[in-house]
Parts: sequence; C-alpha cells; structure tokens
Amino acid sequence: MGIDRFTGKPSYGEYMDLNEGWVDRRIFSDDHIYEQELYQIFARSWLFVAHESQIPNPGDFVTTYMGEDGVIVCRQKDNSVKVFLNSCPHRGNRVCFADAGNTRRFVCNYHGWAFDGAGELQGMHEEYCYDPGDIDKSKNGLKQVANVDSYKGLIFATFDEEAPTLEAWLGDFRWYLDMLLDNEEGGTEFIGGCISSEIGANWKFGVENFIGDAYHAGWTHDSGTRAMNDGQPFPPVDMENSYHASVNGHGWEFGLEGVGDIFLLGRPKVMEYYNDIRPKMAERLGKMRSQIFGSVASASIFPNVSFLPGVSTFRQWHPKGPWKFALQTWVIVNKNMPDDIKEEITKGVMQTFGPGGAFEMDDGENWENCTSVNRGVVTRHERLHYRCGIDRRVENHPILPGIVYQGQYNDANQRNFYQHWRDMMEAETVKGVPARYESRFNGRQTLNFSGLDKL
Ligand code: FES
Ligand SMILES: [Fe+2]
Repeated sequence: MGIDRFTGKPSYGEYMDLNEGWVDRRIFSDDHIYEQELYQIFARSWLFVAHESQIPNPGDFVTTYMGEDGVIVCRQKDNSVKVFLNSCPHRGNRVCFADAGNTRRFVCNYHGWAFDGAGELQGMHEEYCYDPGDIDKSKNGLKQVANVDSYKGLIFATFDEEAPTLEAWLGDFRWYLDMLLDNEEGGTEFIGGCISSEIGANWKFGVENFIGDAYHAGWTHDSGTRAMNDGQPFPPVDMENSYHASVNGHGWEFGLEGVGDIFLLGRPKVMEYYNDIRPKMAERLGKMRSQIFGSVASASIFPNVSFLPGVSTFRQWHPKGPWKFALQTWVIVNKNMPDDIKEEITKGVMQTFGPGGAFEMDDGENWENCTSVNRGVVTRHERLHYRCGIDRRVENHPILPGIVYQGQYNDANQRNFYQHWRDMMEAETVKGVPARYESRFNGRQTLNFSGLDKL
C-alpha cells in the first residue's frame, strides 16, 4: 500500500490517475490492498443485506456477508430488522448454517449457547457450570451492526457508527434507483430464492462491468444474444442519446430507447407487459425515466451490488480474497405483476443471467482471466486503460442528476467508481470522504422530481 511521503497517510495516487484515465493492475490482486478494502470499504459502507420480501414475518431470517463477515438478518416481533454477526461470542463458531428460514432461536453447535431472534443470549447447555459473576448474559449476545435501514424494499446495514444516513449514502442516485424499485405501484419483491456461485475473479471486475461496461456487451455476448433472439444481434448504441451517470460511487449507464434490456430477456410477453404499463410509469416517474427504464442499461450500488433493470437480475459480489468472489443472484419483479409475467421473467433471467445462462458464462470467464493474468509479476505493474469518453462530460443536464457523461460506450462510471474507492481507501473516517458531486435535491425528503422532468 502506498504512503504519501509528505503526510505519511495512505495514498493510492500510485495506483490510479482518473483524470488521465488509468488504473494500476495491482488493485485487483494485491493482498495488502485487499485487506485494506475489507477495513476501509466493507467495514464502513452501507451494504445491501436483504430484500424486505425475503423476510416478511417475525422470526424470518437470511444469512449473508458484509465483506467477509458472516451476518444474520432477522425480522423482529415489532417488524423492525436486526442484523448481527453469525458468530458465537463463546469460541466464535457459526450459530446459523441455513441460508434462510424462520426460527425463535439460534443455537450454537459447539456448547449449546442459545440466542433469540434479536441475538440476545438466552441460555446455554449445563448452565450450572458457570458460577455467579462468570457471565453476564446481557453482555454476551451476538454482536449487532451499528445501523440498519432500508430504501424502498432494499435493506442495508453498516458496521460503522459514523456512516452517514442511508439516504445521504444513496443521495441523488435514488432518482435512478426508483426506476427499478418504484416503477409500478406496490414496489418490488425477490422471487424464487437465491442462486449462489463462485468465480475466481476480483470482486471489482463484477461491479465495474455492471456500473458502466456497455462496451463489452455487443462483442462478448454476441453469440448469446443471437441464440436468444432468432439470430438478431445486440441492438446498436445511440451515442447521442445514451449516458453514464454516477453519484457517490454508484452508477447507471443507459440508453433512452426503452426496450433493449427487455428484449435481451427474450420474452415477448414481458415486453408487452412493460409497454402496457409505460404510460402509467411516465405519470409516476416522468417521461424521461419511463424511457430509460427497459433500455439497454446496467447499474451498480457502491460497493458491491449490481442489477440489470428490465432484465430483472439483481446480484451481490461478496469478496472472498483478492482472487475470488461469491456471487449471489436473485430475480427482482414488481409485486403487482400477474403470476404468468413473473414466471416468464424468472425463466428469462435463468436463461440469460443464471449461472448457466447464455450471458453469465461469457462474463465469468473474462473476469477470471483478467484477474489471473493481472497477477503476473511483470504484468501487474502495467497500467489499464480507462480513458474512453473522458471529454464527454455533460455539465448541468436539465434533468439527469449525478456526474453525467454522454455516450453509453464510456469508462466514466468506472472512473467514478474507482475515484470513490480511492476516496474511501484514503479517508481516516467515513465522514472524511470528499463529496465529488453536489446534490441537486438537497433537503428534499421525497424524490418526486416531476417538476424537473418535463421532457
Ligand atoms: S462456541 Fe458457541 S457455544 Fe461454544
Ligand atoms: Fe456481460
């Protein structure tokens, strides 16, 4: 890890110059940098932990990861959600081995310590072995995270007490997120469970691919696209009418044609459904967002969640060392969709972005090779090119919030992701992360931007 020679503080200046448009390959393989990522990014960010629909009832839980730390996400009797470490305070054993379920107790396999759904220690095997004063049960529960909050169905948690509010963390990116989460009355749900797989690649390759890499799609996925759509190729990109937009390290790249991602799903009934609800969507979100939704687009929420709006795959890249990540994917649909449309979407997602899907396999192989090749002792010192579209910044777009660049084939969102990555890696406290973009909607409680959205 670099140290600034004047301040003695961590510096990642030798690993990237985003004004010039390059990134050093060592950030994808170096052990020390990876350890720092776990502390500086994963232990301080707001991390997605579950969708509300996965745990609708008291006692419902899922287990997941925040960085490499295993956690349990559990619905409480008062309907709130608690998130705590999946690790027993006695010797550290995992207390829950299930991916999901409903329970009143988490009981440790090793010595039988038992915790309730709030993570409080309730009792233990042969409790008489402890003398009075040996143990205070109220102080030996499962370690709670610092904060839990949700945004339109997505539950996030952070280990860092000093983290800003979730609202501030997402910032104006909510304007974009609402296209996924609020395009129809009733909001969204996950259906059909979670699919997990492991890929031998650095986690950032998944995130940066979804945050802005429209460029690879027509090439990497050419044969898959033709196979899924009667020989038709990937739709051409209109560089005049497509964008990259980024806020706080989150990013969404998109066209405005309204149909490209839905077309990729290869399910004509789903296309019909979206075309039917589009006028209502325009009333709800404004005309521009109703044109963005469904277009060729992809997005990531910093640091490790991505989705394809219109295709309906939603995924999280859990780091497992510098050279491996665990990928969890779900199907996200609108709650109010008829069952047959939900079914069509599920089949479409499995055929495209399931682990055996036509597109998912193309990507995983590329990322594995990027990771292993970048480890070469000579290769790792070479720079990677991130300069595409560097002069296409659009200042003060009349509608689009965020740092906006024109042209969907662009490295802008990737550059902004690595800028935020660098800012978090260098910041002593999460409050010290500099703002790179001033909110257009400061102080507004709701994100009804219809006044701005008359195009
Ligand atoms: S490690 Fe859990 S009860 Fe001992
Ligand atoms: Fe891809």
